[in-house]
Amino acid sequence: MSDRPVNVGLIGCGNISTTYLGFAPLFPGLRIVAVADLAPAAARKRAQEYSVEARSVETLLTSDDIDVIVNLTVPAAHYDVTHAILSAGKHAYSEKPLALTLEQARSLVALSERTGLRIGSAPDTFLGGTHQQARALIDAGAIGRVVSGTAHVMSRGMEHWHPNPDFFFLPGAGPVLDLGPYYITNLVQLLGPVTRVAALTSAAHDRRTILSEPRRGETIPVETPTTIHALLEFEQGATITFSASWDVMAHEHSPMEIYGTEGSLFLPDPNFFGGTLSRAGVDCDLHEVTMWDHLFLTPNFELDTNPQANYRTAGLADMAAAIAADRPHRCALDMAVHVTEVMTGILQSGETGAFVAMTTSCNRPAPLGPEMARGLMPEARQGRLA
Ligand SMILES: NC(=O)c1ccc[n+]([C@@H]2O[C@H](COP(=O)([O-])OP(=O)(O)OC[C@H]3O[C@@H](n4cnc5c(N)ncnc54)[C@H](O)[C@@H]3O)[C@@H](O)[C@H]2O)c1
Repeated sequence: MSDRPVNVGLIGCGNISTTYLGFAPLFPGLRIVAVADLAPAAARKRAQEYSVEARSVETLLTSDDIDVIVNLTVPAAHYDVTHAILSAGKHAYSEKPLALTLEQARSLVALSERTGLRIGSAPDTFLGGTHQQARALIDAGAIGRVVSGTAHVMSRGMEHWHPNPDFFFLPGAGPVLDLGPYYITNLVQLLGPVTRVAALTSAAHDRRTILSEPRRGETIPVETPTTIHALLEFEQGATITFSASWDVMAHEHSPMEIYGTEGSLFLPDPNFFGGTLSRAGVDCDLHEVTMWDHLFLTPNFELDTNPQANYRTAGLADMAAAIAADRPHRCALDMAVHVTEVMTGILQSGETGAFVAMTTSCNRPAPLGPEMARGLMPEARQGRLA
């Protein structure tokens, strides 16, 4: 597999599939060959839009021309589909969350070890230039020893934009399992693994009304907490509060603040690759950090007319390169399993009222500095819009 692009198949042709189909061409190590979906019409539509083949799920799983299959199904199907991909002899890369329970996640580890096949998992936004620079600063001691911090992801919810928002409010999603992966994965890459968690959880509504087309006005059940206030204790000693909610119309908390013995660091939303960093030193004077020259910071995309750096599929490209180089991939299975335990532990603590001690740990993924980012995406592909 070393000298040619990795041939990729996608299972799940919904909303996020356009991101993978649109952004994979940025990375010469990836070639999307075919797509599949439970709903054949969804696969045909995407195949036509992006000039790839539509196959049935079964045919894709057994296709000899596919090396890696990306699992873009709904969270409740993630475990079964990733299991089927490895069982069919292919490497898997899953959208987040990797699995809905720690038991499922552990079973995927066992399957990966048994088959020698890789599993990678989104999010890959922690590979963004800003988050990588934050990591470089923390590792260089720019704010001293990290002792505490905060992370906030709070909004009015998802039913005003997603055409089929049902899954967001069912077990397996909610703001912790849906958006928590971005925040908790970034915290783990910055600080390392978590030792225990506690949380209070609630839901403002037991049904919600869809505000997006085509199902505007339909009501859907809420079967998972939609407001979570959690405490995370990290192995290196830091304690972080993490608040995630879809019951908040507006707030003024910043996405992520990290406090050290010699300063503070303010990070942008880890749901995105770019944004600015601010830092204060022992003089307590907060100022914007001069950003380094990192490819995964360059705006290449517009979100609501705002230029954004969007390099989703970078994690998949890194996994493809890692397979060829026989090195660990950064969107690593041990980190995804640990993040799964942190998130499910938060929900478990919300139910029991007790602290939940983590039984898993993980290595921090290798940093992705400017040079390494250039290695994944050579000049010819830069600046290309999805
Ligand atoms: N939409 C986003 O902006 C976004 C962003 C980041 C991550 N994600 C993640 O990506 C995943 C998919 O999200 P989405 O918004 O594209 O969902 P979606 O509901 O729009 O699409 C999911 C697709 O998967 C198909 N599917 C479901 N179960 C299947 C199975 N067992 N086998 C084959 N196909 C199956 C469905 O038919 C559907 O076409 C979720 O895990 C979500 O958390 C979504």
